[in-house]
Amino acid sequence: MNKEDFPFFKRRINNREIIYLNSASTSQKPFHVIDAINDFYETYNFSYSENENNEVNEIYEANRRKIASFVKAEQEEIIFTKGTTESINFLASSLDIKKGDEVLVSELEHDSNVLPWQQICKVKGAKLKFIKVNNEGELDDIGKYLTKKTKVVSLSHVSNFLGTTFNISEIGKKIHENNSLFVVDGNQSVPSIKYNVKESNIDFLAFSGHKMLGPSGIGVLYGKKELLENLKPYQYGSFMSQKIETNTSELKKTPFKFEAGTPNVEGVIGLGAAVNYLNKIGMENIEYNNRKLVNLFLEKTDGIKNLHVYGKNQENLVSFNFDLLSAGNVSAILNRENIFINSGNHNVSLFHKKLKIDESARISFYLYNNEEDVNALVYVLEKIGKSFAKK
Ligand SMILES: Cc1ncc(COP(=O)(O)O)c(C=O)c1O
Repeated sequence: MNKEDFPFFKRRINNREIIYLNSASTSQKPFHVIDAINDFYETYNFSYSENENNEVNEIYEANRRKIASFVKAEQEEIIFTKGTTESINFLASSLDIKKGDEVLVSELEHDSNVLPWQQICKVKGAKLKFIKVNNEGELDDIGKYLTKKTKVVSLSHVSNFLGTTFNISEIGKKIHENNSLFVVDGNQSVPSIKYNVKESNIDFLAFSGHKMLGPSGIGVLYGKKELLENLKPYQYGSFMSQKIETNTSELKKTPFKFEAGTPNVEGVIGLGAAVNYLNKIGMENIEYNNRKLVNLFLEKTDGIKNLHVYGKNQENLVSFNFDLLSAGNVSAILNRENIFINSGNHNVSLFHKKLKIDESARISFYLYNNEEDVNALVYVLEKIGKSFAKK
C-alpha cells in the first residue's frame, strides 16, 4: 500500500506533503488507472458499435467480466450507470412500485438513498417508512417494520456519516422471508470490503467508481439475473434494441437493454483497472488497514477534551465535533496544515437533524493512508482541543 503509486501525493503545497483524509468523498487514483485510460485514448479509441465483435466492445465486456468477478456476480448481472445515485434512481423507477406499496429505508441513509424513493412513493401513492437507528448507528429490528405491503428495503452497508455497518446478510434473510426485495447501497463498503453477492442475501447492489480508485461518472448496479430479466429499462435509446419498428422495438437481453446510448467506455476501462489494483493489494488488507487506522485515531483522540465522536465500531471513517468550534472551522484549520478532511452534513441530512446538529467533521481512510497520517491529524486536533476548551 504505497503512496508512490498515486501521483496526487507528489503534489506539494507550501513545500509540504498532502495528507488526504477524505476518501469517503472521493478516492485518489493510482497511475495504473490513469495509464489505462490514457492508453485507451492514445491507442484504441474506436467507437463502441452495434457489432459485438468490435475491439472496443470486446474490451468493454472484458472489463464487465472483471468487475462482475470482483463482487462474485455473473457478467450479465452488472449494469453500468453514472454512479450509485443513478443506480438507485434506476431501481426506484423500474421496480414497479405501486399505490399502497411500502418502501423501507433507514434514518441513517445518504440523501441519494432517500430522495429517489421519496419521489417515486409520492408519484405512485406508495409509503416511505424509516427504520429507526440509535445514536450509536445500530439499526432497529427490521422485523418490526416489514409488512405484507413491503415491496423493497434499501439500506447502506457502511454509513458515510457514522462509519458503522449494518449486518447485511442477516437483514437480507429477514427481508427475503417477507418476500420483499433488498437493495444495498455499497458506496462505502464495496471499496474496502470483500463481497460475494451470492452469499449475502442481496438482490441489488449499487456502487460508484470514484470511491474505489476509479474515475467519476461510472458506477454499477448489480442485480440478480432473474430479477433483471423482469425489470423494465428506465431510459431508452440506441444500442439497447435488436429490432426496431415504427411503433415497437424488441429489447436486447440484460444488461444491454439497460444501457441506452453510447457507453462510458473509458470509465469502464478505468474502473476495470481500479479493480485490478484493488485485487493486487487484497481487499482483506485494505479493510484491515482502514480498521487499524480508525482504531488508532479513536485511541489517540480519546483524551482530547471537547471532542465528541459519533457512532461506534466504525469501518473506514469517523465523524466528530468539537464543542466550541464548527466543523467548517476545524476543516479550515487542518487545511492550513495540508490535512484534508470533510465537513458539512455529508449528504446525510436526516440523521444530522436527528442528532440536532447541522454539520460534523469527518475523516476517512483508504489504502494509501498510514499511521503517520493519523499522528499528524491528532497533533493538530490536540492543539484545537486545548485552544477551544470549554470554560
Ligand atoms: C453511502 C453513500 N451512498 C450514496 C452516495 C452517492 O454516491 P454518488 O454521488 O457517487 O452517486 C454516497 C456518496 O457520498 C455515499 O457515501
